[in-house]
Amino acid sequence: MAINYQDRIPNNVDLGSNRTLQRALEHWQPEFLNWWTELGPKDFQVADVYLRTATSVDAKGWATYGYVRMPEYRWGIFLANQDPERKIGFGDHYGKEVWQQIPGEYRSTLRRLIVTQGDTEPASVEQQRMLGHTAPSLYDLRNLFQVNVEEGRHLWAMVYLLHAYFGRDGREEAEELLERHSGDADKPRILGTFNEPIRDWLSFFMFTYFTDRDGKFQLKSLAESSFDPLARTCSFMLTEEAHHMFVGDTGISRVIKRTLEVMKELNTDDPVAIRKAGAVDLPTVQRYLNFWFSSSLDLFGSESSSNAASYFANGLKGRPDETRYEDHVATEQIYTLDVPDGMSTKTEEIPMRNAMNDVTRGSYVKDCDMGVTRWNRLIEKAGHSFRLALPSTRFRRSIGVWANVPTDPAGNPISQEEFNAKIAGWLPSEADQAYILSLMHGVYEQGKMAAWIAPPDRGINNNPVDYEYVRLQ
Ligand SMILES: [Fe+2]
Ligand SMILES: [Fe+2]
Repeated sequence: MAINYQDRIPNNVDLGSNRTLQRALEHWQPEFLNWWTELGPKDFQVADVYLRTATSVDAKGWATYGYVRMPEYRWGIFLANQDPERKIGFGDHYGKEVWQQIPGEYRSTLRRLIVTQGDTEPASVEQQRMLGHTAPSLYDLRNLFQVNVEEGRHLWAMVYLLHAYFGRDGREEAEELLERHSGDADKPRILGTFNEPIRDWLSFFMFTYFTDRDGKFQLKSLAESSFDPLARTCSFMLTEEAHHMFVGDTGISRVIKRTLEVMKELNTDDPVAIRKAGAVDLPTVQRYLNFWFSSSLDLFGSESSSNAASYFANGLKGRPDETRYEDHVATEQIYTLDVPDGMSTKTEEIPMRNAMNDVTRGSYVKDCDMGVTRWNRLIEKAGHSFRLALPSTRFRRSIGVWANVPTDPAGNPISQEEFNAKIAGWLPSEADQAYILSLMHGVYEQGKMAAWIAPPDRGINNNPVDYEYVRLQ
């Protein structure tokens, strides 16, 4: 279906044919804009930003690029095209017709799943709202705002489902999505990582690499859902999400690249000397990585989960890339889990369906590791022996079988005393954070780049790196 940009709410869901729904969403729209003004990117609202806007759901040419003031961004509702042949891909209803409406018995569970996903989208915008002040270049400033407006659109995607399929409860949930705020003492966002402050760009790149990637895997699980409108919504969101992880991946690469240049110039790997030269020493990169990776691991939930088992059984939330598995019912399989056993570990066998969170987390870890391998190749090529590594999935967990179990980053159980003594060296210390913050200054001159980060290899949409990605007023 063609998208009409003259509509108040651009959409490919034929919103005009459902007056009640259209009115309800038009009522929510000014509340969203108020939220954007109050808690979206601080300042820069009158700047012209070179942004991508979704204009179609075709794999080719789904977006257009142009200068937009952020509050005028066309946040729309887009679902991937319906496949009339699509069947339920897993669980107890395997092989049956997918649902265009929600079966009554799954209503509250699906609502919770959609609200939990929806809550992360505005949360990250809130977390990142001050970063415009310290962008290392106009290129980066534009990427930040691109991520922010698209997270806003992801909120729209979830709010559409709530309004269209959950009646009054859904409308109330949509209001509450704008009432909870990241880090708010009384009304925090639902998930822990989305309440962590993001004050610097190293954290921003770690967040977009590790936490947006959690988003990718959640969306992939929901894109398998038997509830077809949810599946179609999430598969389109994934096309936008890819850019967010690109920002993180290339951001971290560029920090490392700059560090390696400084190491070469000074012929040293001494962190003190590297910091004196205004770059980020590699052990500090590792500590930020430890923090954001371990925090993001918790987002997948407990290793053994009866909720996960019932989501799978009922066909609400599947495994990412479900077609790659042979057994889509998974009632006969068992899953072997590492669990703590005093100062040692033992294995436990649980039904596969109960292990779905850990199966998804496992795919996520593999995906995360690909970037680490690429970053290490840069370091190796520069002739250094230092290697970055993902910490163990047991390290610094707050949820699941390893919650609050003291381990080292390799996952070996250690005493609480040893953990307390060493944890400061495994995570960004106050001194690290102060140093990283001291590097953060806005660089707004066209073509200029902050000294702690290398320029990207290429610009956005075939434009040069020194393009005027943001026209400040
Ligand atoms: Fe998102
Ligand atoms: Fe994202």
